[in-house]
Amino acid sequence: MKIVFFSAQPYDNLFFNRYNDTLGFELVFQEVRLTERTINLADGADAVCVFVNDKVTAEVCKELSAKGVKIIALRCAGFNNVDLEAAKANGLRVCRVPAYSPEAVAEHALALILTLNRKTHKAYNRVREQNFSLNGLLGFNLHGKTVGVIGTGNIGKAFCRIMLGMGCKVQAFDLIANKDLEALGVTYHPLTEVFKSDILSLHCPLNNQTAYLINDDTIAMMKKGVMLINTSRGGLVDTKATIKGLKSGQIAYLGIDVYEQEEHLFFRDLSSAVIQDDEIQRLMSFPNVLITAHQAFFTDEALSQIATTTLNNVQQLLKMGNLNNQAALLV
Ligand code: NAI
Repeated sequence: MKIVFFSAQPYDNLFFNRYNDTLGFELVFQEVRLTERTINLADGADAVCVFVNDKVTAEVCKELSAKGVKIIALRCAGFNNVDLEAAKANGLRVCRVPAYSPEAVAEHALALILTLNRKTHKAYNRVREQNFSLNGLLGFNLHGKTVGVIGTGNIGKAFCRIMLGMGCKVQAFDLIANKDLEALGVTYHPLTEVFKSDILSLHCPLNNQTAYLINDDTIAMMKKGVMLINTSRGGLVDTKATIKGLKSGQIAYLGIDVYEQEEHLFFRDLSSAVIQDDEIQRLMSFPNVLITAHQAFFTDEALSQIATTTLNNVQQLLKMGNLNNQAALLV
């Protein structure tokens, strides 16, 4: 049984091969993204394994099916990059890893908040150059601040607990309120209220309802000087509107692990290239913007869980045509 991986990195090879010892699949790792142009690399595969920036369009589904591929295994939680209807129409099963160490992402959101606030990245460089001045490093206490959380699923829940532990007041918006979180002290409010928080963190999926959730109008509803954190999906945020918000001071801090045009940039070393994307260049020029390149999931625990769940999903689907863990099965 052959699985072809797209957008594969050395760490995928390491973690998947480690767990595959017990399963014995033929694993083939391709560095390129899955597109209509690279689809021939899936020749002979029973399953393809894709990541966040592989575009599984209707055309790709049709061609995969024609090649005899049976499964599209996402090695991530989000699935906005897969045309699920087209997959179904072409008889392809689609599975994902619904929850792999949600704490990994939640903790990274906290890392972005603390770095932006206490400027440890600047302090590190300063002290190494024997500059022991504190000017320009002023932060604020997190204790007592109001944190707005949009989406309280697996990651949002973990993030709420962390922020409660920091002594913050946590207010949330989700389609369904979580009773356990309410018992811990999280309160649910309409979005317009949640936008008025001191810190706003996005943890909802990207779909038709949430695309450009952060735009000119919603930025205007926010508290002046808000800190905006996005570890979810780049398409939740209108970058142009955010740049305007940063220039006016409406947004005082921006921490992003995801970016709407990230597929052209992230997971690659472009240090010698001339970046053509003017918006990310503008973002990188702000002193109060921190960008990480989709690394929130990147912990040992999460990668181990991604590898085991993905290969188990494929094994069960190939052997039994179904999954015990139905939450992982999208189509
Ligand atoms: P989840 O499915 O457990 O939770 C999503 C929550 O969002 C649910 O509670 C759902 O009801 C809520 N939601 C759906 N539509 C909404 C709307 N219109 N407004 C407000 N809330 C809404 O997903 P999980 O595991 O918590 O992941 C959340 C997102 O985080 C994923 O969709 C993915 O895009 C992103 N992610 C990012 C990673 C990274 O490395 N940066 C890694 C893993 C996930």
